[in-house]
Amino acid sequence: MARLAVNVDHVATIRQARLAKYPDPVMAAALAELGGAQGIVIHLREDRRHIQDRDLEILRKTVQTHLNLEMAITREMLDIALRIRPDRCTLVPEKRQELTTEGGLDVVGQEEKVRSAVAELHEGNIEVSLFIDADEQQVRAAHRVGANVVELHTGTFADAGTAEERHRALEALRNAAKLAKSLGLKVHAGHGVDYTNIVDLREIPEIEEFSIGHSIVARAVLVGMEQAVRDMIRLIEGR
Ligand code: PXP
Repeated sequence: MARLAVNVDHVATIRQARLAKYPDPVMAAALAELGGAQGIVIHLREDRRHIQDRDLEILRKTVQTHLNLEMAITREMLDIALRIRPDRCTLVPEKRQELTTEGGLDVVGQEEKVRSAVAELHEGNIEVSLFIDADEQQVRAAHRVGANVVELHTGTFADAGTAEERHRALEALRNAAKLAKSLGLKVHAGHGVDYTNIVDLREIPEIEEFSIGHSIVARAVLVGMEQAVRDMIRLIEGR
């Protein structure tokens, strides 16, 4: 059975919308763990649009399961990772203007840079995952540069417009997962995974972990709404 790691970036996005103190992704992470999450994921972006350095520092002390830091390959991020020592770093591409991570890391096109980042993180005893598209050449390159894990980008599958595209994307994920495992890489998956498409993805036996953010935080907002409104009405009424 695959593990679930919960990405709490969106909780920080709500906080940053008001530059307020709440909701705190640290509290969300603790509740996710109480709910059974086997890992917590955050992406410290160069522009700090959601997760802040303080979140990473506190989560390193409070996460009871496994802390996975998504980051771009920059000197600043490598230094932060080596100081804070998350359990795993997932190297992702990062563009300033994007809404969320678009596409996987191009390992083939920058093997030396990725290899050197992997080696540095390994020196700090940090497991390294590469977030890549379900592509044979990228899987092989991930293996060559010494990664421990590949996180297969499920966005193409999740966003497929037609049944044909969906089928093709699922096949690509299946093949990439098989190849990665045969090379000795651990296989994780994430991006756009929701309460519907998980049914197909869970059938890929090589996937050991799903990294899920948007659909879980979105659902939490809705399933928590009734209680939140009741609590405020009670206060207005002085009960
Ligand atoms: N995995 C990676 C590498 C990501 O960048 C993201 C988005 O931050 C996710 C998983 C989670 O994607 P989603 O929020 O769509 O569940």
